[in-house]
Amino acid sequence: MTDPTPAETQPEPAANLQWGGRFAAGPAAVMQRINASIGFDRRLWRQDITASRAHAAMLAARGIIGAEDAAAIADGLGAIAAEIESGTFVFSEALEDIHMNVEARLAERIGEAGKRLHTARSRNDQVATDFRLWVREAIDGLDAQLAGLMRALAARAAEHAADPMPGFTHLQTAQPVTFGHHLLAYVEMLSRDRGRLADARGRLNECPLGAAALAGTSFPIDREATAAALGFARPMANSIDAVSDRDFALEFLAAGAISAMHLSRLAEEIVIWCSAPYRFVTLSDAFTTGSSIMPQKRNPDAAELVRAKTGRMAGALVGLLTVMKGLPLAYAKDMQEDKEPVFDAADAWSLALAAMAGMVRDLRPDAARLAAFAGAGFATATDLADFLVRELKLPFRTAHHVTGRLVARAEARGVDLAALSLAEMQAEEPRLTEAVYSVLSVAASIASRTSFGGTAPANVAAQAARWLARLA
Ligand code: ARG
Repeated sequence: MTDPTPAETQPEPAANLQWGGRFAAGPAAVMQRINASIGFDRRLWRQDITASRAHAAMLAARGIIGAEDAAAIADGLGAIAAEIESGTFVFSEALEDIHMNVEARLAERIGEAGKRLHTARSRNDQVATDFRLWVREAIDGLDAQLAGLMRALAARAAEHAADPMPGFTHLQTAQPVTFGHHLLAYVEMLSRDRGRLADARGRLNECPLGAAALAGTSFPIDREATAAALGFARPMANSIDAVSDRDFALEFLAAGAISAMHLSRLAEEIVIWCSAPYRFVTLSDAFTTGSSIMPQKRNPDAAELVRAKTGRMAGALVGLLTVMKGLPLAYAKDMQEDKEPVFDAADAWSLALAAMAGMVRDLRPDAARLAAFAGAGFATATDLADFLVRELKLPFRTAHHVTGRLVARAEARGVDLAALSLAEMQAEEPRLTEAVYSVLSVAASIASRTSFGGTAPANVAAQAARWLARLA
């Protein structure tokens, strides 16, 4: 950005087309530049035209404008849509935003009739309506992408329902789980992300159009009709609220920030799993990059970037919250700053979901290595403690203590629990028998976790199948 030159601070000659009656001179160049949103809100053009069509049809149905004018407006808006679609439409910064660009072009094309479109409407209800329509569409697209990623995860989970891997807490070996179970954890998270979007969509789906500037209008408009025409459940009940709030955008961003956080955790795990000391999974050439200096490198850049998108998505939420905080009712121009963070977050979310779905389909787990590590680090110590409770009726705390001593013995000798002799076992708990060895294997450990939501392969297979059926 450059500082305004002295010339730029001088007023331009022509007064604004839309409010020139009151104004003798045009804005300073820098005023025009800070005021304009056309650089980014042109993304609302489809919604703007759709909402204008609904508004014009309603005005005609109510006899507020003539049927011929309404028909001319509908045709003109169709032609403008074609111009924008084909890239021939000339966007003007002087016309500030998408609403005035479209409206001015309409008047240019159809004359007087075009100048009747803005009856009983303000840009305040117009932008609120357009933006809600845009966010609603974004929600539907992202919801479908979330479902797609869930399907990809559930399919891989079904494939690996019985394949063990080390389960971690504190990133330290905890207990064996199955790879499928681990992937299904993300399916559950993403399902709640969809729930948050659905909740946001439900609250968003009321129509601000007809609130006009803030007070409503004296024209006999039909807000039920425009709301229905635009697919909203109902008109918003308070005209001041309708033009003032952006909580729908904030809810979208909050859902996005949470979902990005979920994606970042899977991304981080993929990064860890791909690293040489782990080698739990590999990503193909399609989802990795090389290094310009180190020939051996295969970097999981896509996963790292999914992890990083969380920053801008959380930033978008905090940014817009900060814009909205403390704004007096009703509309204030500050609110024009609502769009860029929402567009940016929606783009980042969509890209992250697509990249993650690609990686989930691409990644190849090393089942043998995962199984080997599943049993390392005394991963079945809890199974031994549970055995002492079940078979010898020890209180769990006592069993925990006995097992801890056995782990210490094994650790001192540098062997696994299963490598301790029965005599060594009995030195800590004399009533132990050969039967104890049956609970120390990884297979026995995961098979025993049959509690609802547990990692037993039969459970995991059933959950994966349930998700695949639900998402089909
Ligand atoms: N470009 C504006 C925005 O995005 C449209 C609403 C302008 N309203 C106004 N009273 N100046 O918020």
